Amino acid sequence: MSGYTSYKSTYEQSISDPERFWGQAAETVSWVKRWDKVLDDTDKPFYRWFTGGELNTCYNAVDLHLENGRGEQTAIIYDSPVTNTVKKITYKEFYEKVSRFAGVLKSRGVEKGDRVLIYMPMIPEAVTAMLACARIGAIHSVVFGGFAPNELAKRINDAKPKVIVSASCGIEGAKVIPYKPLLDKAIEMAEQKPEKCIIYQRPQSKPELLPGRDFDWETLMEDASPAPWVPVSATDPLYILYTSGTTGMPKGVVRDNGGHAVALKWSMQNIYGIKPGEVYWAVSDVGWVVGHSYIVYAPLLMGCTTVLYEGKPIGTPDPGAFWRVISEHGVSVLFTAPTAFRAIKKEDPKGEFLKKYDIKSLRHLFLAGERLDPDTYTWAKNLLNIPIIDHWWQTETGWAIAGNCVGIEQLPVKPGSPTKPVPGYNVQIVDDEGKEIPNGTDGTVAIKLPLPPGCLPTLWQNAQRFLDYVTPIPGFYVTGDGGHFDEDGYLFIMGRIDEVINVAGHRLSTGAMEEVVAKHPDVAECAVLGVDDQLKGQLPFGFVVLKADSAREHGEVVQELVNMVRAEVGAVACFSKCVVVDTLPKTRSGKILRGTMSKIVDGKDYPIPSTIDDPGVLVKIEEAVKKIGFPKIG
Ligand code: COA
Ligand code: AMP
Repeated sequence: MSGYTSYKSTYEQSISDPERFWGQAAETVSWVKRWDKVLDDTDKPFYRWFTGGELNTCYNAVDLHLENGRGEQTAIIYDSPVTNTVKKITYKEFYEKVSRFAGVLKSRGVEKGDRVLIYMPMIPEAVTAMLACARIGAIHSVVFGGFAPNELAKRINDAKPKVIVSASCGIEGAKVIPYKPLLDKAIEMAEQKPEKCIIYQRPQSKPELLPGRDFDWETLMEDASPAPWVPVSATDPLYILYTSGTTGMPKGVVRDNGGHAVALKWSMQNIYGIKPGEVYWAVSDVGWVVGHSYIVYAPLLMGCTTVLYEGKPIGTPDPGAFWRVISEHGVSVLFTAPTAFRAIKKEDPKGEFLKKYDIKSLRHLFLAGERLDPDTYTWAKNLLNIPIIDHWWQTETGWAIAGNCVGIEQLPVKPGSPTKPVPGYNVQIVDDEGKEIPNGTDGTVAIKLPLPPGCLPTLWQNAQRFLDYVTPIPGFYVTGDGGHFDEDGYLFIMGRIDEVINVAGHRLSTGAMEEVVAKHPDVAECAVLGVDDQLKGQLPFGFVVLKADSAREHGEVVQELVNMVRAEVGAVACFSKCVVVDTLPKTRSGKILRGTMSKIVDGKDYPIPSTIDDPGVLVKIEEAVKKIGFPKIG
C-alpha cells in the first residue's frame, strides 16, 4: 500500500539518502512554494527541513479535503460520555468553525507569529482553536488541563501569549473542574499578562467574565468574519508544547510547519497503515503530544475521521467504554497508553464487557507513552486477537522513533520491545563517549543527527537548553532513555536515565515536585523519585529530611507536602507517598543515590554503591519505607 517493498530496504534508504527519502514523502503535502533545500545543515546542530518552502498546515488539514470532495465526511467525532454527547462534525462544518475562529483571533489582534495559549478540556473547540492559529500563522501552546495555576503561569511567562483561549470547566469522570478560577490565578501569578482571554462557556459552569479582558467564545463567533489561511515558511513554528525536563522549568518544544506535516502524513500511512476516510482514535488529551499529533494533526492531514473522547477507560460508565466507542464509530486503529489497558484489565480481567460489542472494524492497537509490560501485552493480545503494536516516542520527536511499521511491512512482535527504529531515525546504543555498545548490553539510547522531519528544531527562545540534548555526545541527540538492541536488532527501552518520570502515561518532572517540597518551612532537604506502580506504571515518592529545630509531627508535614504538590503542580502529579528520614543516602561527592532509593521502595535487590558515604543510611531508609507499607507485596 505504501509503495515501499520491505522495512529493511525502506529503513536503509531513509538513512543513506534522507534528502531523497523525505523529498519524496513531501510530495504528498500541498505546498504554496516548493522548498529550496530538503535538509539544510548549514547551522549544525540546528538542522532545518524544507527551507525556502511555504505552506499552510490548516489548509492541508481542512480546506484541501473540501477541494478533494471530503466536505461531507466526518472530520471529528466528539464522544463525551461525561456529558452524554456524541456529535459529528463534517470537514465542511469544521472548515466554517475554524475559519470563523481564525477571524475571531484576528479581531482580537492576533497576527502571524503571535502566541496563543490554549487551556481547554477535550472539546471540539480546543481543536478548532489549534487549527485557527495554524490558519493565520499564530503559534499555539496548549497546556494540559490537569496542571495547577503555578505550572500554567510558568508557561504563560515563557510563551508570552497575546491571547489565552480557555473553557469554563473540564469534566473528569463525575467531577466538574472549574477552569476559570485556575486561569485567573495563573494570570495573577504570571509576570506576562495576556491582553485578552476568550472563554468557551460550557453549560456545567458559567463563571463571570472579567470586562475588558475576557470575551465569550459564542458571542465573538456570531460576529466574526471568516479569515483566510496565510502561507507560512516551512520552518516557521506551528506550536510550542511544554514538556517536563529535569528541572522545575518545563521545556518549550518547538514544532515547525513543513517537516511536521510531511512526517505526520507519512506516519499515518506507513506506521499506522491507515487510509483517508478511515476512523482513527487516539485516546489521550490535546494537552499532550499524542493529542497534538494523533488526535488533531495527523488524522486531519490524512483526511481521516478522528475521535475526540472526553472520558476515561473505566468509570465512564464502565470498562466497556473503549469497546463501545470502537463499535459505535467503526474505529480502524486505536492508540492509547498501556495504563489504560491495565485499568480495564483490573476492573474486567476476563473481558466480559467486550462480549457486548462488535469491534471487528479494529485492525491494530498501538500503545505508547510508557513501557508496554509483557503482562499487559499478553492480556490485550488474548482479548482482542489483533496485532498489538508497542511504539516508542517522546514529545520532542512528535512521532514514533521505534515501532512496527504495519503500513510498510509488519514484523513479528517481541513482547517488551517497540520493534525496530522507524525509517528516518538512526538509533544507536552508546556509552558516554558515543561509542556503540554491543547488542544485548544496556546503554544510552541516542539518535544520530540529523533527526528526521517533524522533530524539534530547537526549544522556544532557548537554543542553549536545546544544546543539552546534542552536546553530551557530539553528533547525537540523547533521548534520556536507556535500553539495548537484541541480537535481531529489536530495540528494548528500559526507562528514563534522568529525573523524568511517567505516571499513567503522563510525563512529569520529579525536579518540579522537589522544588515545591523544598519550599516547606520545615524541610531541610528532599528527593522525589519514581517508583513502580501496578496501575500507573510509575508514581512519585518523596523522601524528606526535616530541619534540626523542627518539632512538627511527621504525618502532618507529609500531608502538607502532598497538598502543596497538588496545589502547585496539579492533581495529575499523583504525589501521595512521602516519608521523613534522618538523612538522605549520598555519594562522597554529595550526589543523592536516587536509583538506590527507588530500588528499596520497589523491593528490588540493589548493590551497595562503592561511592556511598555511609552505607548505614540505607538500612534506615529501608526501615522508614517499611513503616508506610513499602515495598508493596503482590
Ligand atoms: N483536568 C483536570 N484534572 C485532571 C485532568 C484534567 N485534564 N486529568 C487528570 N486529572 C486529575 C484527575 O481527576 C485525578 O484527580 P484526583 O486525584 O482528584 O482523583 C488526578 O488528576 C490523576 O489523574 P489520572 O492519573 O488520570 O488518574 P485517574 O485515577 O483519574 O485515572 C487512568 C487512571 C489509568 C484511568 C487514567 O490515568 C487514564 O485513562 N490514563 C490513560 C493515559 C493517557 O491517556 N495518557 C496520555 C498519554 S498517551
Ligand atoms: P512524552 O514526552 O510524554 O511522550 O514521554 C516520553 C517518554 O515516555 C520517553 O522518553 C520514554 O521514557 C517513555 N515512553 C514513551 N513511549 C514508550 C514506549 N513505547 N516504551 C517505553 N517507554 C516509552
